[in-house]
Amino acid sequence: MSDPVKFDPAALSEPVAAVLLGAGLGTRMKSDRPKVLQPLAGRPMILYVLDAVAPLEAERRVVVVGPEMAESVGAAVAPAEIAVQRERLGTADAVKAAREALRDFGRGTLFVLFGDTPFIRPETLADMAATREGGAAVVVLGFEAEDPTGYGRLITDETGALIRIVEHRDASEAERAVRLCNSGVMALDAARAWALIERIDNQNAKGEYYLTDVVGLARAEGLSCAAIRASEDELLGVDSKVDLADAEARWQRARRLHAMAEEGAVLSDPASVWFSWDTILDRDVTVGQNVVFGPGVRVEAGASIKPFSHLEGCVVKAGAEVGPYARLRPGADIGEGARIGNFVEVKNATLAPGAKANHLTYLGDAAVGEGANIGAGTITCNYDGYLKHRTIIGPKAFIGSNTALVAPVEIGAGAVVGAGSTVTQDVPADALTVARGAQTTVAGGGKRLAERKSAEKAARKKGE
Ligand code: UD1
Ligand code: MG
Repeated sequence: MSDPVKFDPAALSEPVAAVLLGAGLGTRMKSDRPKVLQPLAGRPMILYVLDAVAPLEAERRVVVVGPEMAESVGAAVAPAEIAVQRERLGTADAVKAAREALRDFGRGTLFVLFGDTPFIRPETLADMAATREGGAAVVVLGFEAEDPTGYGRLITDETGALIRIVEHRDASEAERAVRLCNSGVMALDAARAWALIERIDNQNAKGEYYLTDVVGLARAEGLSCAAIRASEDELLGVDSKVDLADAEARWQRARRLHAMAEEGAVLSDPASVWFSWDTILDRDVTVGQNVVFGPGVRVEAGASIKPFSHLEGCVVKAGAEVGPYARLRPGADIGEGARIGNFVEVKNATLAPGAKANHLTYLGDAAVGEGANIGAGTITCNYDGYLKHRTIIGPKAFIGSNTALVAPVEIGAGAVVGAGSTVTQDVPADALTVARGAQTTVAGGGKRLAERKSAEKAARKKGE
């Protein structure tokens, strides 16, 4: 969704590699799924961090995980590589786990990012890389925290140069008063990084190897370090299900604005529309209240999605109308100017231009021809309990209400199926077919029945 990136990666002259840390247990998430795979807008959050790195054209991308997550995270982030941190000994140790994978990356900018900060922007990373290329051995991304408790603090001198980072637990009262916090994102001079990181020890309150110590070590060698600032919003970390919901809400807000401002869609009640990471809306699409876009939806120009519709894995072509209360499932392809009305479900089915299914219908594993009309209550019986079968409905065919089309079955072009039919055999083009019990009418029979029944009832009452 993100807007076109406003920097030129060619402006950076040195190669880039990125290490994404994600071996933390994520205990507060209370989940069986690794934290970095928790979904944001239907997609693992670590992929947003990889997206932010992408415009920098990183030569190498290595994701550090614990042994038990190597498989699942590896599959999600491929083709980025995986490095396994055997024991969680701290952020510096986690970076060291990636060293082997980066053995031939000896020059340029080595980024360290966290897998749980999905809103980091490529422009910020580009700024950091440019500052690094300008001569800093270490560039740290900081932010002014509303509540700095728990964060590492960036200690700067009177010129603003970064001197060291102190973790909250190890900080003095005066240091804790500093509002500028460490986000955890760093850009290191790859030629010097490993020598510095190897010297980090675990003599601190947590007994961990802190990557943040790299700043003090670099300064002691006379190397310069710099801090770049970003907003707290951009550096939002996701640690719990509550944070996850908050991140989702922020993402959705931004996505709705993008739909209106960039895509040119009309949202009647933006706050009630729910997007997925890959939703695409063209110009002048209108979206009513309470519409949910699951993954894989494209809606073309001028189409209208009416209130309370749920779409997933489908395409709605130009000028088509969907809903209210429609459900489009994966493989639904709604042709130009076609109409899907209330309580209609479509799965793995194409509707050619101008086809209509306006009420109470299920179309599954079907192809509906141009201008065909599907009456209320039509069901494609696509599943026999073992296998799925296709229904083909020709152009301009007319399917009467409450028809069951028992697949595999084909209705020819222009054919008419009488209401209430259960169609088990193909219907040729232009034929009329009716497949229901014949209607029998007995003159005066209704009145005679009423008289007989009332007499029966009266006799029974008398005997009680
Ligand atoms: C870290 C920073 C702190 C900063 C804060 C920002 C250090 C020492 N401290 O603290 O200055 O303000 O982030 O949120 O770096 N991880 C591993 N392996 C480990 C330990 C951590 O992969 O052994 C990963 C975690 O999955 C996480 C990231 O590193 O993505 C940060 O770890 P975390 O334990 O959250 O560090 P903080 O204590 O929050
Ligand atoms: Mg943390």
